[in-house]
Order: sequence, then C-alpha cells, then structure tokens
Amino acid sequence: MISALGELAIRRVPYSRKETLQAFDQADLLALDYLQTEALLDPNCRVLVVNETFGAITCAVTKALATMGGPLPTLWSDSHLAHLGLQYNAHANGLPVANFVQAQETPQGPFEIVILRLPKSHALLRDQLQRVLPQLAPGALIVMPAMVKHIDNAVYQLLESLLGVLSTSLARKKARLIFAVNNTVALVKNSKAEETHWDLPSLGLSLQHFSGVFSRTKLDPGAQVLLHQFPQGPYQRVIDLGCGNGVQAIAAAKKWPQCQVIGVDESYMSVASAIINANNNGVGDRCQFRVNDCLTDMVSQSADLILCNPPFHQERVVGDHIAMRMFAQSAQVLTKEGELWVVGNRHLGYHAKLKRWFKWVEQVGTHPNFVVLKAQL
Ligand SMILES: C[S@@+](CC[C@H](N)C(=O)[O-])C[C@H]1O[C@@H](n2cnc3c(N)ncnc32)[C@H](O)[C@@H]1O
Repeated sequence: MISALGELAIRRVPYSRKETLQAFDQADLLALDYLQTEALLDPNCRVLVVNETFGAITCAVTKALATMGGPLPTLWSDSHLAHLGLQYNAHANGLPVANFVQAQETPQGPFEIVILRLPKSHALLRDQLQRVLPQLAPGALIVMPAMVKHIDNAVYQLLESLLGVLSTSLARKKARLIFAVNNTVALVKNSKAEETHWDLPSLGLSLQHFSGVFSRTKLDPGAQVLLHQFPQGPYQRVIDLGCGNGVQAIAAAKKWPQCQVIGVDESYMSVASAIINANNNGVGDRCQFRVNDCLTDMVSQSADLILCNPPFHQERVVGDHIAMRMFAQSAQVLTKEGELWVVGNRHLGYHAKLKRWFKWVEQVGTHPNFVVLKAQL
C-alpha cells in the first residue's frame, strides 16, 4: 500500500493465496494522503481510527506518529478479524500494535483526530458517534473516508443530525472524504452503548442486543426457520457457529438440559450480547461464548452438533466465502457421527456446496425461501 504517509505491506486476514480482494481501498488512501498533505499529525496528536477492516490506516498512522515520537493510535471496532488484521499487519511491517477497543466499550479520549469508516449499520454508526463525541478534544477533526457509492442521503442526514455541519473533499478514484469538526455544544451524546431488546414468546426468551449485533430489532427469518425445524437430539456438545445474539445456542441449551454449548462469532458486540442473553435466560452455566474467526483453533472431533445460520456478507463484501470456511472447518470439528445443521436461502445452493466436505447432505426442512440442511461426514 503506497500513500503519502509511506509504503506498507498490508494483507487481508485470514490470508489466502487465491485472494483477489484488497485489504484497503481508495478511500483509505485518500484519507492517508490528506493527513500528510495537511500536516495534521504531530507528536501530541491522539488519533482514533474507527471500523477499518484490516488495520491499513491504523498501521500507516502508527508508523507516521512513531517517527515523530507521538503516541500509538487506537482502533475501535466490532470485528475480531479487524483486530487480527491490525496485529498481523503491524508485525509484518515491524510496527508496534496500536491500542484496540472493542465496539461495546468506549475508547477514552481526548482525541484530536478521528478517522471513521462508515459501517453498513446505521444503528452502529449512530451509537458510535454518540459515544465518541464526549471523547473528542474541542475542535477535533472527524474525517470519514468513503467510497462515493456508499454515501447516500440517509447516511449523510444521519451524520448531519449527529455532527452538525459537514463538508466534503473532491472525489478521487470514486472515493471522497466527509469532514466534521467537533463542536462541544453540539447535539446528542451518550456514554453507554445503545441496546435494543425483544422477546421470543414461543421459546420464552428475552434477548438484548448491542448496536452491531445481527438482527438487532427482530428475529432473523432464517433463524426462525432453523428454530422451527430444530434437530431432535439429544446432543452433548453443541456449537452455535456465528452465534449473533446467541438465540440458537440458548435454544439448544434449553432443549437439551445435559448439553454444553459453545457459541462463536467474530463480532465483539454479538459475543457480549450472547453472554448477557444466556445469563438472563437461565442457561449461562452451560453456554460459553467466545470471539473467534469461524472455528479456528477449536479441537478436532469435539462437537456432535453444529448449528449454523451463516453470514452472506463481510461488511460490504457480499458472498459465501465465510460460509464456505464455516462448512470446511465444521467437517474438522464434528465427531464422526456429528451433524452440521445449516439454514440458508434456497438460491444459495448450499446443498451442493456442502458436498465438498460432507458425504451425506439431506434437506430436513422446507420453507418457500429457505432450506434447512443436515450434513454428516
Ligand atoms: C446470519 S448471522 C446469524 C446470527 C444468529 N446465529 C442467528 O441465527 O440469528 C451470521 C453471524 O455470523 C457472524 N460471523 C461473520 N463472520 C464470521 C466469522 N468469520 N467467524 C465467526 N462468526 C462470523 C456474524 O457476525 C453474524 O453474527
């Protein structure tokens, strides 16, 4: 990655030789060039980077500040993959690893510069801005690098309602910067992470959600189909792969009172919500939740049931690449007789794809839009 702040080797994480996607984009480069041409970084400057995917901006700022004797920047993100990306790319470039703050916590300022990549979720964006404003130095600059196609009226209005007057840079290679200056008299500020709650009366569950959690306002239709066509069991060791709010894990723990459940998700907010939800619904003693990239480093042949409602995008990148990793790793982590139960949109063709790793793939449930599939080795 070559920017006005220098040259760095930046990779996506996990790295694959076949990878065709880059770990940074033109909006990242525009922001880094802007920091350099406007000479915004100085040895007293505390920089907060928000929501970037693999640490490209944070590493470039770390390097620039280090050469001036300045402090380490902070990356604030909901993504464990972003955290891994930051660590990998800092080490690969011989840099110290910047501070990292999980999205449900609030980084402590005062920060003079914030570089914020706009997340897809407006709820997360609103929550983050409300919590970061009290952490800004007076007159602090907020720079929001974005690809032009991602700046629509709704996001612009949301930013104006929270930050006041905005300005923008000229576009370069389909990227633009949006600017705001912290005005200490301004607008709504919160110190606590935003939460939403809803109940699932059919299962007697009450669920809490931080702002970055999948399906934070209502049960996901795919999740509903899987809950409706749940395996019969009993099972002893269950994994909820991509657990979100933990709904599948909690339903499993309730259905099989002797089973132990592990829920994994790459979203810090999801894992934090799932822990709260398992405790609030009386199964916290048999459910463990952890942040993880799919099933990486989980013990081989250690689960007799994996429940999976896979993601179909990674932030703005749509595709089944994460689902495929989930299926491949499930084949390692299941016992010989173990079962992977997957729910997915009918058109995604998971049935054929699962056969790359599983000998038996059976459709166990029908629905006009979704399929529930059981896969065995
Ligand atoms: C479709 S949601 C399912 C959430 C929940 N299990 C449900 O049924 O409502 C997919 C989940 O996968 C998580 N996820 C995405 N990438 C992941 C990864 N690399 N490793 C683990 N979880 C991931 C997302 O954060 C999201 O919570």
